[in-house]
Amino acid sequence: MSGLPFDQRDGVIWFDGEMVAWADAKLHVLTHGLHYASAVFEGERAYGGRIFKLDEHTRRLRASAEILGFDIPYSVEDINRACEEVLAANHLVDGYVRPIAWRGSEMMGVSAQHNSIHLAIAAWEWPSYFDPAQRLKGIRLDLAQWRRPDPATAPAKSKAAGLYMICTLSKHAAERKGYADALMLDWRGYVAEATGANVFFVKDGVIHTPTPDCFLDGITRRTVIDLARRRGYELIERHIMPEEMNDLSECFICGTAAEVTPVSEIGPYGFVPGEITKTLMEDYLAEVQPRAEMSPMAASA
Ligand SMILES: Cc1ncc(COP(=O)(O)O)c(C=O)c1O
Repeated sequence: MSGLPFDQRDGVIWFDGEMVAWADAKLHVLTHGLHYASAVFEGERAYGGRIFKLDEHTRRLRASAEILGFDIPYSVEDINRACEEVLAANHLVDGYVRPIAWRGSEMMGVSAQHNSIHLAIAAWEWPSYFDPAQRLKGIRLDLAQWRRPDPATAPAKSKAAGLYMICTLSKHAAERKGYADALMLDWRGYVAEATGANVFFVKDGVIHTPTPDCFLDGITRRTVIDLARRRGYELIERHIMPEEMNDLSECFICGTAAEVTPVSEIGPYGFVPGEITKTLMEDYLAEVQPRAEMSPMAASA
């Protein structure tokens, strides 16, 4: 990956219906989305030239905007096509795609009832989120001081830019202490998620994952649940107290960017990546590859 700042790269960005030069994809500083976080986004990965679960990502993007009270002025089909065009126009086969929608500049106050809605889609090369050599050893997570909010306080089901303030605070604090990432609890004190990924545990051959009632029910999370069921693993979605991590033997996080990443440590709790983690990591990497035909595993599911 190039170390160039993101506003100085080469390529094209889809911006309000047009392909524009990367350097020209600019906003005015008086943009509602910047001041009041009235923005929603997606993170998608392309493998072998195909964006994995593109349609689900696009539907979530539109749903995230609706939760924030605005309609993206492009259909699911238009957005899907634009994502594919951006990937191709930037000559990317394995890459990351970032659509973002936001409120414009017509009104600059808390109220923005009549602001125009914008959509931009960028794509770039993005190798594994975490160092691949470290992946099998497992990454170390801090226990975050910040918590996921009550859905009565913030729109937890929207992939809204504003909700990432908590993630950046937690991730920065973890990185300062030498950790790769942080695990956040929710407002009640239950285990919630990492700063850009969902979390799973294993105990006595059974998979446990938190009920997604106040954080994103990730597309990767749902894919991993399907893969686990296809393998015949028992899987329980439930509230998990942090002290329970004493008795949980394996842990991994998963998300579009993180894929399936084993975890060796969360604060004082230790884990050893084992058979189930390894199997799901491999199954996920197989699942995301574009295929002409269904795999025998999918066909028998
Ligand atoms: C906070 C958070 N939780 C979970 C996820 C996983 O979601 P997905 O698997 O849809 O990428 C993400 C990534 O988008 C995220 O940012």
